[in-house]
Amino acid sequence: MPKASPKSPKKSKSPITAAPAAGAGKVPAKGGTVVAHESGSRNAPIINIGIDRQDRAAIAEGLSRVLADTYTLYLTTHNFHWNVTGPHFNSLHAMFMNQYTELWGSTDVLAERIRALGHYAPGSYAEFSKIATVPDVPQNPPKAMEMVRILVKGHETVSRIAREFIPVAEEAGDDPTADMLTARCTVHDQTAWMLRSLLED
Ligand SMILES: [Fe+2]
Repeated sequence: MPKASPKSPKKSKSPITAAPAAGAGKVPAKGGTVVAHESGSRNAPIINIGIDRQDRAAIAEGLSRVLADTYTLYLTTHNFHWNVTGPHFNSLHAMFMNQYTELWGSTDVLAERIRALGHYAPGSYAEFSKIATVPDVPQNPPKAMEMVRILVKGHETVSRIAREFIPVAEEAGDDPTADMLTARCTVHDQTAWMLRSLLED
């Protein structure tokens, strides 16, 4: 029997036309800056993972802010690993190494989730400085306990930013991102507690 003739292929819409402004989603871009631009080309299939295009754009912007803050906190922690001084050198030098290693690993996970949502991940100091809430590394190395105080604030800030975007991911049905951000909050809350404990009498 002759096979039924194949249907003529549907004309697919280009994934790069009529892109919604990422800032038009539920997560306003910080300061009107959009850094997670939509990726894709006419040659690749349109992304179809069950999350609306506008929601993906908003989530990618939210993840970019968490990425920028995580990276800034990573660099601060690594700087403190190098520059810490005083009687607690050994323990803080080692503790900061564990912390910056964990933060470094998480930047990869966050950036690749942005890519899986069909957007480019920001990865430059110029972009990060536009959207990060965590302040840049102090120019002059602070005293050891001031370093600890700065890191407590940094971890608390990243936790607040990540927590802010969990409902956005949940409402869009993006459980992987919601789970990822929940896991990040767990790490930041725990690290902040450990650092805070160093400052208690
Ligand atoms: Fe080292």
